[in-house]
Amino acid sequence: MSYEHTINLIEAETQKNYLDRFVSIGLVNPKSATNVASILRACSCYGASAVFYTGQRFGYAKEFNADTKKMRHIIPTVGVDDLLKMKPEGSKVVVIELVEGATPLPEFKHPDNAFYIFGPEDASVPPDIVELADHVVYIPTKNSMNLAATANVVLYDRLAKSDYDRSDEFIKLSRDNNNNL
Ligand SMILES: C[S@@+](CC[C@H](N)C(=O)[O-])C[C@H]1O[C@@H](n2cnc3c(N)ncnc32)[C@H](O)[C@@H]1O
Repeated sequence: MSYEHTINLIEAETQKNYLDRFVSIGLVNPKSATNVASILRACSCYGASAVFYTGQRFGYAKEFNADTKKMRHIIPTVGVDDLLKMKPEGSKVVVIELVEGATPLPEFKHPDNAFYIFGPEDASVPPDIVELADHVVYIPTKNSMNLAATANVVLYDRLAKSDYDRSDEFIKLSRDNNNNL
């Protein structure tokens, strides 16, 4: 898919399904550039607008070509010191973590404006962020999931519970050039 095509798609998506809604992602010190690249791709597919991350590890890893579609040039990807200070205005903080007392994702009603925060591959979301979150949500899996897989599942769940575009026109816009069906 060309850059122009992707940008058109994001703009169309924003106007159609995400009017007055702002979805962004916060990553606590992500380790793997491959995971961040997959999350950026998910942002483009599901209509999330920005990724904020803490720590140095992604900064070191990001040039190693995991982001083959160069999504970080399309989805703003911003290194910050404090995720909560970067919370987009009007957004609810939704921590995604396996923690006692959290809401199971299948039962969760997503806020219109959401800032979803995920932990790193080798730790979890720090307690001070969990304490200040508006919502804490977990996916009832048997083991902890891969970081990028978790973000994809959360964004898919949001889409599945939304009034999404069911038209053939949208399918035509979304598919890759290699799909000749
Ligand atoms: C690979 S997991 C972290 C692994 C981990 N804390 C450990 O035990 O090594 C990376 C992040 O994905 C998210 N995550 C993974 N599985 C999850 C689940 N079942 N429910 C909610 N969040 C999950 C959390 O944000 C977590 O911090």
